[in-house]
Amino acid sequence: MPREIITLQAGQCGNSVGSQFWQQLCLEHGINQDGNLEDFATEGGDRKDVFFYQSDDTRYIPRAILLDLEPRVINTIQTGPYKNIYNPENFYVPKDGSGAGNIWAAGFAAGEKLWDDVSDMIDREADGSDSLEGFMLLHSIAGGTGSGLGSFMLERLNDRYPKKIIQTYSVFPDNSSSDVVVQPYNSMLSMRRLVQNADSVVVLDNGALTRIAADRLHVQSPSFAQTNQLVSTVMSASTTTLRYPGYMHNDLVGIIASLIPTPRCHFLMTSYTPFTSDSVEMGKTVRKTTVLDVMRRLLQPKNRMVSTNVSKKSCYISILNIIQGEADPTDVHKSLLRIRERRLATFIPWGPASIQVALTKKSPYVPMSTRVSGLMLSNHTSIAQLFKRIMTQYNRLRQRNAFLENYKKEAPFADGLQEFDEAKAVVQDLIEEYEAAENPNYLQYEGGSSGLGATSGNDAREPGRTRME
Ligand code: GTP
Repeated sequence: MPREIITLQAGQCGNSVGSQFWQQLCLEHGINQDGNLEDFATEGGDRKDVFFYQSDDTRYIPRAILLDLEPRVINTIQTGPYKNIYNPENFYVPKDGSGAGNIWAAGFAAGEKLWDDVSDMIDREADGSDSLEGFMLLHSIAGGTGSGLGSFMLERLNDRYPKKIIQTYSVFPDNSSSDVVVQPYNSMLSMRRLVQNADSVVVLDNGALTRIAADRLHVQSPSFAQTNQLVSTVMSASTTTLRYPGYMHNDLVGIIASLIPTPRCHFLMTSYTPFTSDSVEMGKTVRKTTVLDVMRRLLQPKNRMVSTNVSKKSCYISILNIIQGEADPTDVHKSLLRIRERRLATFIPWGPASIQVALTKKSPYVPMSTRVSGLMLSNHTSIAQLFKRIMTQYNRLRQRNAFLENYKKEAPFADGLQEFDEAKAVVQDLIEEYEAAENPNYLQYEGGSSGLGATSGNDAREPGRTRME
């Protein structure tokens, strides 16, 4: 029985990232630009139905809903090479589509107006699945649509589908560039929903993506197309265990349960190695990869797609390595022993210190340029530094009451600015909880003081908000 996942793409970033993800999935499953299976795609063994359904004429159609408040990116998708794979009923741009102007509140308020239409689309997709496992939201938290409309949808999805998993791939802004001046406001307001309404958030930090593109692919000022290539590689690798199922981690619940022991600490980092790029000559590597080499590199902070400094106290809560290519269990076992001997990974003092490894099949239709490649999904306490950076930038703007006019105009702020204060309290609690998780007595931790974090006291130690049906 497939465990289907519906993908929701919101805003410029969400749709651009999503379109590369679908192209990658089509290549990996041997689906051509019209949604038909290529003649050579005869291997089987893959589960296309997790992310695609088959139309009456047997074409594979993504279970994807593409939403934006302005038409530009969606138009590009609708005229691009993969335009025919999507269900034309699953595009949504309002008639007066002029965007959310980088204002979270405008995106959130727009959600209220278009929810009837959008929830119809979501229900239709959900009813078309046999055993829906959950939703994947792709968005950025810094602009107006992905962050505001994304936040609105997270709240509503939670109410409407309380037993389904909600995972997000959330692009965090590069804190060294302020392409959106109010991005700390938007990020803070979105963070609250990511804490309260998502089961798992894969954090992709644009600052780290730019750094990795420079270091690994030797591109100094990468375009979004290039950073999105990194993102789609990570997304496809992190879903391989769902699409090429083995004995474990073959549904989202399995992955989340193994990585998220306490419900609020559900922000995951990713590392991937080796990055190679066909479009970037310098990115092509000449090296002999081994399982140990890959697993060691995955633990290097410079390969993480979130920029944080590893302090003495910071540690892993959990790790899942997804290894593809020529790897056998003996290599994995030896590598794990070596990593332990060399103390390459520091774990929390209150739980098991183990690296989980899934060996997965790689698509037979996409030639691998390296013998072994790996993705690490990890829950690491240093992610709190990213939240602290957002908090500092937010405080700076908020102390000056800068740029608030556009927020006050919108419904969520009709009665004042409590939204901001509540969001800040939730993020503060989250930072404190990650810091508490670095201590041996975390299991006695009573939860944050704001009372807004959805859980407190013993609830904080329930084994994740896994919503099995
Ligand atoms: P509005 O433009 O206000 O309607 O909202 P939006 O959600 O469409 O905004 P957008 O997605 O452009 O969000 C802005 C943030 O996303 C900035 O931090 C950008 O750097 C980042 N961003 C935009 N497009 C991309 C992309 O294709 N890839 C990556 N990695 N980041 C992007």
